[in-house]
Amino acid sequence: MFIPNLLDNHRILVTGGGTGLGKEIAAHLLSLGATIYICGRREAVLKDTAHELTMRHGGQVETLVLDLRDADAVDSAIGTIWQDGPLTGLVNNAAGNFISRTQDLSARGFDAIANTVFHGTFYATHAVGKRWIAEQRKGNIVSIVTTWVRTGAPFVVPSAMSKAGIDAMTKSLATEWGRYGIRLNAIAPGIFPTPGATARLRPGADPHLLETSSNPMLRLGKMPELTNLAAFLMADGCEWLTGETIAIDGAYSLAQGAYFTNYMGWTDEQWQEARDRIKGETERDKLLRTVDHRTTAS
Ligand code: HXC
Repeated sequence: MFIPNLLDNHRILVTGGGTGLGKEIAAHLLSLGATIYICGRREAVLKDTAHELTMRHGGQVETLVLDLRDADAVDSAIGTIWQDGPLTGLVNNAAGNFISRTQDLSARGFDAIANTVFHGTFYATHAVGKRWIAEQRKGNIVSIVTTWVRTGAPFVVPSAMSKAGIDAMTKSLATEWGRYGIRLNAIAPGIFPTPGATARLRPGADPHLLETSSNPMLRLGKMPELTNLAAFLMADGCEWLTGETIAIDGAYSLAQGAYFTNYMGWTDEQWQEARDRIKGETERDKLLRTVDHRTTAS
C-alpha cells in the first residue's frame, strides 16, 4: 500500500508497544523504515517484542520500562530518548480497561484506568510536545481511542470518560499547536481482537464469534487495516489533516451505537465470574512487571 521506506528518518514512540494493537502498529511503522521506541510496564514482554520485530523487519527497536501513570517518570523517559535524538512521532496507544458494573467500581478501580488512559496519555503528549515547541520542530501524534468517544459505552465508564478526554485533547491541541507544525489525530478502532482486550472486555468469549453478524461488513477488523491507517497518519503526505478522530469499525457504531449493551441482562453471578476471570488475567500480568530499565534491540 505504501512506498518502501515511507518512514525513513522517522523516530516514533509507541506507548504500550509490547503487546496488542501497539505491537502491531510498531511492527508496521518499523517495516516502513522508522526507528521505533516501545514502552510498557513489563520488561520481558518488551524485550521479546523488540527481538521479534527486529528479526522480522530489521531496523532498530528501543525499549523503555515505564509506568505512564508517573508524570516524572514519563518526562525522564522522554528525556532519555531525546539524548539519542528527537522523536518525530508519538503513538498514544497504552490503555487499561475491564468491564464492570459502574456501581461495583471502587475509586481505585476508576483510577487504575483513568490514571493510565487519561493522565498517562496527557503526560506523554505534554513531555514530547513541549520539547518539539522549545526546539522548533514539527511533530505528529496519533492516539488510539474508541468509538465510545461518540456513543458512550455501558460497563466501561472509566475508559469511555478517559478516551473522550483524549478525543478532546486531540481537537484542542490540533488548534493550539498547529502553528508549531504539530498535528494530532486519533483512530477509533472497532474490534481488532487482541488477547489483552478480549480477556478484559469479553472474558471467556471466543472473539471470532462476536459482533460479526451485527457489523454492516459482517466481519471483525483485520490488523493491517488498522496499522495502514496509523502509517498513513504518521506519514508526511497529508499534513493538513489534523484534529480528526477516524473510526475504523466497518460502520458498526453508526449501525449499532454503543458496545456491550448485550451485558445489560447479566446476572450477579455472571458479573462475579467476569470479575474473577479478569482479576486472574491482571495477576498473571503483574508477575511480569519489573523496575525501570532500558534495553536495545537492533
Ligand atoms: C472491578 C477491578 C477489576 C474488575 C481491578 N479492579 N479489576 N474492579 N472489576 N474486573 C480494581 C481493583 O479491585 C483495585 O481496586 C483497582 O482496580 C486496582 O487494581 P490493580 O489490580 O491493583 O490495578 P493495576 O495493577 O494497576 O492494573 C490495572 C488494570 C489492568 C487496568 C486493572 O487490567 C491492567 O494493567 N491493564 C492493562 C492492559 C489492558 O487493560 N488491556 C486492555 C485494553 S482494552 P481496590 O479498591 O479493590 O483496591 C482497551 C479498549 C480498547 O483499552 C477497545 C477497542 C474497541
